[in-house]
Amino acid sequence: NRHSWIAPTSTDVRSPCPGLNTLANHGYLPRNGRNISVPMIMDAALDGFNVGSDSIIQAAKFGLLSGNAFTTMDLDALQLHNLIEHDASISRGDFASGDNLHFNETLFSTLADANPGVDYYNATSAGQVQQERLAISLATNPNITNTLKEFLLRCRESALYLSVMGDPLTGVAPKKFVQIFFREERMPIAEGWTRPNVTITPDTTSPIEVIVGEASNWTATQQCEDLVIGP
Ligand code: HEM
Ligand code: MG
Repeated sequence: NRHSWIAPTSTDVRSPCPGLNTLANHGYLPRNGRNISVPMIMDAALDGFNVGSDSIIQAAKFGLLSGNAFTTMDLDALQLHNLIEHDASISRGDFASGDNLHFNETLFSTLADANPGVDYYNATSAGQVQQERLAISLATNPNITNTLKEFLLRCRESALYLSVMGDPLTGVAPKKFVQIFFREERMPIAEGWTRPNVTITPDTTSPIEVIVGEASNWTATQQCEDLVIGP
């Protein structure tokens, strides 16, 4: 049907965001990944994941700055470093590594192996993953950007994967669903996942973000960074 998962073709473009890519792979966003407006993203996120506009409107508006079009963006342009894209991602390399766009299984092993002994991830394990991913970047990337901005984005993104793949009210998500979301950018419907029946808003994600942030034991590397507002 219209929302079946179809892998991107060689001419389709994708982003460093597993959420947007999954929406494109299921046809909630244009499958070619191009010419995407803010309202298209708002509708897709609500239809596909029950993510309300309040949780993503800022990111979507910033996304418009990734290219030259007035009202739309292409998914691959979202790799523009330090606009939204940041170092110490869960599933992508740092900008300085030469590929901050594509899924990287080696780096993803931090999340894949997190919360041993149980079959779910939660806000505490997500914070531990952020701590470990940042430690790896600090040890390997002398050009890392790690300010409050990146910290807040990373906590927001962790709360989002826990919420869309799990229970938005508890922040508990089955490992199997989270891994399929990152590795295949697919909704794990065949494995039993269903769209959250609670709308994901800042009211649901903020408490999760607080626990993620505390569990990550974060400290800044710099106070500020160059302002990126265009390609
Ligand atoms: C990163 C989820 C909406 C742009 C991420 C990450 C997650 C995520 C889990 C972290 C990936 C990683 O660390 O490897 C979602 C979900 C969304 C959503 C579930 C709801 C539909 C958006 C929107 C935009 C956006 C609206 C902007 C148009 C990005 C970008 C990154 C990212 C540029 C890369 C940041 C980085 O890791 O360097 N997203 N996202 N996302 N997201 Fe989204
Ligand atoms: Mg990144």
